Amino acid sequence: MPQSDTSAPAGSIADRSAPSLEVRSVTAGYGAHTVLRDVSLVAESTEVISLLGHNGAGKSTLLRAIAGVIEVMEGDIRFNGTSQLGRGSAHVAKDGIALVPQGRGVFPTLSIGENLRLGAGVARGVRDRTKVTLDFVLDLFPALAHRLHEDAGTLSGGQQQMVAIGTALMACPRFLLLDEPSTGLAPVLVQTMLDQIRSVHRELGIGVVIVEQNIHEALRISDRAYVLRLGEIVRDGPAATLLDDPDIWGLF
Ligand SMILES: Nc1ncnc2c1ncn2[C@@H]1O[C@H](COP(=O)(O)OP(=O)(O)OP(=O)(O)O)[C@@H](O)[C@H]1O
Ligand SMILES: [Mg+2]
Repeated sequence: MPQSDTSAPAGSIADRSAPSLEVRSVTAGYGAHTVLRDVSLVAESTEVISLLGHNGAGKSTLLRAIAGVIEVMEGDIRFNGTSQLGRGSAHVAKDGIALVPQGRGVFPTLSIGENLRLGAGVARGVRDRTKVTLDFVLDLFPALAHRLHEDAGTLSGGQQQMVAIGTALMACPRFLLLDEPSTGLAPVLVQTMLDQIRSVHRELGIGVVIVEQNIHEALRISDRAYVLRLGEIVRDGPAATLLDDPDIWGLF
């Protein structure tokens, strides 16, 4: 199981401050349809966190609430101690929280390079880091490196997912929210993709919250996990503990 493998040392000042990302007793949904009930979650930039649960449990809804795509009905969402409520998704993205939505979301008629450059336009103060970040993305996903001028729509599903993650990284986020990044990938590619996500966390020091259907594989690359059921958190803990708990599979 991964140990903390980013630069912040245990016991540092960062450890004693408020959690970097904090979801406090959040109720949220769509119009009159309440999906999330009293959901709380904390995430640090030193962690990879899995968000697990059956279809319709509210996983995507929770990521959308954190990213400011939907409004919170009750509760609070804080980033570095500051409430994000009412700021809207564009501001939340500028503040350093990047959402890669379910179903990829690349622009198919733009080239791979154009997609990636769009990401660099999102956040504040990243222009001087654009070249370094692009080099990192192309090192991480070498399949993209020789095809920068090709339309993203010509890529395989897995490669489009790489473009979507790469585009999010170009904004130099502090947290990456990934909604089922391995959807549609062959099992052998699922492992590779999740290992690449762990590398992103390790190399860039970005906190990751990942929604996955591949529970075992997700726990393998995570430090902690939360399980959602019918819009409520029914279990959380270290990924190693959940992996060893036979009762966990009854929650899905
Ligand atoms: N845009 C929407 N408008 C109205 N209801 C929605 C919308 N998106 C999702 N829902 C409803 O919210 C509930 C939770 O959906 P959500 O997509 O968050 O679940 P999920 O855990 O991500 O599921 P899956 O594993 O299938 O992606 C479901 O009942 C769903 O029908
Ligand atoms: Mg979903």
